[in-house]
Amino acid sequence: MRSSTYTFAALGSAVVLTLAACSSGGGGSSSGSSSGSAQGVSATCKLTNPPKSSASAPPTSSPSPVANPPAGVSVGVILPDTTSSTRYTLYDQPLLKAAFDAAGLQSDIQNAQGDTTKQSQIAQSMIGEGVKVLLLDSIDQSSGAAIEQQAAAAGVQVIDYDRVNLGGQAAYYVSFDNEEVGTLQAQTLVDCLNQQKASKPRVIMMDGGTDVDNNAVLFAKGANDVLKPLADAKKLTIESETVVKGWKTANAAPAFEQALSAAGGQVEGVVAANDDIANAVIGVLQQQGLNGHVVLTGQDAQVEGLQNILKGDQSMTIFKNVSLEADAAAKLAIALIAGTDPSTLGITFSDKQLDPKNAALKSVLLPPEVITYSNVQDVIDAGALKASDVCNGIEKQCQEAGVK
Ligand code: BGC
Repeated sequence: MRSSTYTFAALGSAVVLTLAACSSGGGGSSSGSSSGSAQGVSATCKLTNPPKSSASAPPTSSPSPVANPPAGVSVGVILPDTTSSTRYTLYDQPLLKAAFDAAGLQSDIQNAQGDTTKQSQIAQSMIGEGVKVLLLDSIDQSSGAAIEQQAAAAGVQVIDYDRVNLGGQAAYYVSFDNEEVGTLQAQTLVDCLNQQKASKPRVIMMDGGTDVDNNAVLFAKGANDVLKPLADAKKLTIESETVVKGWKTANAAPAFEQALSAAGGQVEGVVAANDDIANAVIGVLQQQGLNGHVVLTGQDAQVEGLQNILKGDQSMTIFKNVSLEADAAAKLAIALIAGTDPSTLGITFSDKQLDPKNAALKSVLLPPEVITYSNVQDVIDAGALKASDVCNGIEKQCQEAGVK
């Protein structure tokens, strides 16, 4: 797709006002679509009252040290990859290590680098080295369920971490309320469009790896629950819904290019499942001079995502405070190792039954938080990131947004 495909039109006065107030310096708005005139929306979204999670945060106490910790490595953690999201190296790895260190337990934390053979080898070596508990954030559900089976046969207890393995046999699952993540993404998109009085906005949905990850299925379900009724009531149009298969973010840009072209080269909103997909979408919009002029969602509150928000290219992200997730998972692992009853931990288990085939699965579903331009500071205040990292290279934008 070349930018010459698009006809750039003079902007209406209302549109100019919006852009002048919020523009990030993109090239302008296109009128290439046959399905309605282009609306000069701004990606920058300042919500004073963003949609909120209904889940409640657990008490924030760190796990207490185990009385007689077993000798050697007692907990293994397998993370899925380093390419679908920076969260695994930025958040999960260091926070899980810190939680187990605080409990006095030796942990072995490895990343399968998106390779299911490697994932299985890591699991086998961890079982071999005598771990008591395995925290598994699997690449896909069938390889995850196979590892659960091997672990069970060796007497190793598995906690599904962040991603559930449907049809598996884990007793515990620690994650965020993933359906709500999708609801919050879509509701924020709608609120941002409404705030700008966008009329009948056109929306493209860029789902994550629904073919491998039940979280991606739930994100898409939550988003559709918000958008479908509005589409049915003809208040917006869902132009298309594309799956970024296997969460392979390298495929996100070509897939979005196609979806944008099919939508006539212009939309007002894009639901991107996470910050990495959002970043690929921004790259494509940039080529068309449209970045900053489309309301765009994300997830993971990673550095690049927050920078894209502060630069005016992305409208929101979902902050999942991984330290809560790591703490809950560590507390459960510690209880399982010490043989104490996890129901005495003060952890709230969800009423939601996530896996009909594994009715005994107990889930901890933590609350996600919406971040727009107005509350980027929340991520820093929660201790998840340092202002110096978020603001590196975008000092001026941080100053303007009051981020410090
Ligand atoms: C996680 C997201 C992440 C995605 C891609 C999901 O299972 O919950 O935080 O962005 O996988 O790795």
